[in-house]
Amino acid sequence: MINTKKIVAVAIISMLGASVTYAQSQQDLVKEGRKVFVTKKLGNCLACHTVQNDPNIPQAGNIGPKLSNLDTYPKDYIFNKIWDPNKTVPNTIMPPQGRSHKISKHQVDALVAYLQATTKAK
Ligand code: HEC
Repeated sequence: MINTKKIVAVAIISMLGASVTYAQSQQDLVKEGRKVFVTKKLGNCLACHTVQNDPNIPQAGNIGPKLSNLDTYPKDYIFNKIWDPNKTVPNTIMPPQGRSHKISKHQVDALVAYLQATTKAK
């Protein structure tokens, strides 16, 4: 006879395992995004932006708007904004760091994860 209890237990354990891995990788992505944000040779976003709920960014600039409430924006909008800001604001001074291959798609995904996790609307 098939041991259904055992099968159910194995299924639950593997589901738990998957969600723990997911939570860790999401946290890692957020951490990586912050690094891209503050590193001059990568995103260098701190040159122009401060970030809501993250006051410890060194020498954050105010040329661009303070990034806030980005958890209320669609992911795609933020991704495209960072990948190629000229698409939404043709004469913006924000550089197209994805389109110009200064940062990768993965690094833009990490920036989106960091910004959405950090700048939560209250
Ligand atoms: C040279 C200055 C400059 C740099 C560097 C810069 N930005 Fe911007 N950013 C701006 C300006 C100006 C705007 C507002 C005009 C616009 O939307 O293009 C803006 C807009 C944005 C917006 C939209 C905010 C909103 O509320 O709609 C996001 C998100 C953003 N920037 C993220 C980033 C990220 C992430 C980086 C780093 C990869 C970055 N910016 C680098 C100047 C900059």
